[in-house]
Amino acid sequence: MVVTINADLGDVIGPVPRRLFGSLVEHLGRCVYTGLHEPDHPRADANGLRGDVLELARELGVTVVRYPGGNFVSSHRWEDGVGPVGERPTRLDPAWNAVETNEFGLHEFMAWVDAVGAEPMYAVNLGTRGIQEAADVLEYCNHPGGTTLSEQRRANGAQAPFGIRLWCLGNEMDGHWQVGHKTASEYGRLAAETARLMRMIDPAVELVVAGSSASNMPTFGEWERTVLTHTAALVDHISVHAYCQEHDGDAESYLASAVGLDRYLKDTAAIIDRTLADLGLDKSIGIAVDEWNVWDQRHWNEMEQPRLRSAPPVAGGRVIEDTYTVTDAVVVGTLLNCLLRNTDRVTMANLAQLVNVIAPIRSEPGGPAWRQTTFHPFHLVARAARGVSLRTAVTGAPIHTSLHGPVDPVDAAITFDEHTGRAAAFLANRSTNAETEVILSLRGASLEVEEAHSVMAPPGTTRHATNTEHAQPVVPVPLAGVRTAASSDGTTLSVTLPALSW
Ligand code: AHR
Repeated sequence: MVVTINADLGDVIGPVPRRLFGSLVEHLGRCVYTGLHEPDHPRADANGLRGDVLELARELGVTVVRYPGGNFVSSHRWEDGVGPVGERPTRLDPAWNAVETNEFGLHEFMAWVDAVGAEPMYAVNLGTRGIQEAADVLEYCNHPGGTTLSEQRRANGAQAPFGIRLWCLGNEMDGHWQVGHKTASEYGRLAAETARLMRMIDPAVELVVAGSSASNMPTFGEWERTVLTHTAALVDHISVHAYCQEHDGDAESYLASAVGLDRYLKDTAAIIDRTLADLGLDKSIGIAVDEWNVWDQRHWNEMEQPRLRSAPPVAGGRVIEDTYTVTDAVVVGTLLNCLLRNTDRVTMANLAQLVNVIAPIRSEPGGPAWRQTTFHPFHLVARAARGVSLRTAVTGAPIHTSLHGPVDPVDAAITFDEHTGRAAAFLANRSTNAETEVILSLRGASLEVEEAHSVMAPPGTTRHATNTEHAQPVVPVPLAGVRTAASSDGTTLSVTLPALSW
């Protein structure tokens, strides 16, 4: 099969925000404990942070880290996680039926995120708490000194303010599972008043109001409209959460998940525009996809969750440690492409999560840390997607899917950085059984190939191949046979993509 892709250096969707390559660290399962933090580990530093995990997080190229949840945040008391470790309380975490020891808290997170070189993004609890506690944690973090809370931070070892700019106003408040779940108008009012006070305390904050937790929520659309009616004048971004999974072995539909995400983003953008117009507000509100990933939720809903709920709560138990396949890696590549194709509206995104829990990085207590299959597309896109994202037009016989109808056989995103003169093309072959020849015409540029990689099933394995503690066969391999030729108005690149590859 032959697929043609056309792009033009002058046909720009939008700049690629560095914040597109964020992630989430939640107090959930072993993300924090024995993930980021394990004082007894041979690679732990003086603060108990695992050096091997830190190195992998740096290599991944993560640019923003959202913390401390997720669902965890909606019953969390931020002050439990500051002050001398030995004096911190141990609490029940109702969101995940766990025990939270608070050995890792705000200061440990800031030390970790600094060491990674990423930007912190902090979520306040609007489930069991409200305006005052949000104001308190902001004052603790960002006020220079001279007040009880800011002096408490200094006494706890941080002389300079943390200067956290990105703040989430709660998490998934539309979800019935959320501790302190609210209706759209209850949440909209609370978020607006919290935002107003937070801006008084620190006018430099950027605020993310919680949108829907999935596109199939019955309240999707109406939730955004109501919440934004209350908050649009006061916030900078609205969140979108999106998790994709394969249903009943339907690989074709799963590989087309980006089509569903694209629709979700465009619908959200339309609701933002309509609400801003209704309010007569001349401003823009970005979309923060502050949780996205592939996640086999059937396993969680049918097996893990009932088991977790019926067992006594423990600290740092194994929860949602999905082992990813080659297929998952290709889907993650297409979801990244979808984010790149929506950079006119998407201002940031967070792969959820970072370590052990539905994560690109896995680690064992006292043992090694390794890269899951999904690590590779994320790492390569975070490294190579620079400058602006270009519009792409794909032509080729469509693949028919039961969930998304006919879809492009090759999923494509292209970026171009005028400062370095480098372009990057990210291509996924959605065919599970046929290689595909791609002819890509890029108008306006004369280019040569610098490097080309592919992520696919290693020889002798299937689309279900995984990386484990013992062996990591799924790695990027050189993609041979990429040719470029000068055309009358630019460059034509041809390449054969192996079946089911990114
Ligand atoms: O990332 C796992 C969970 O998924 C988060 O805690 C929650 O926000 C979402 O439902």
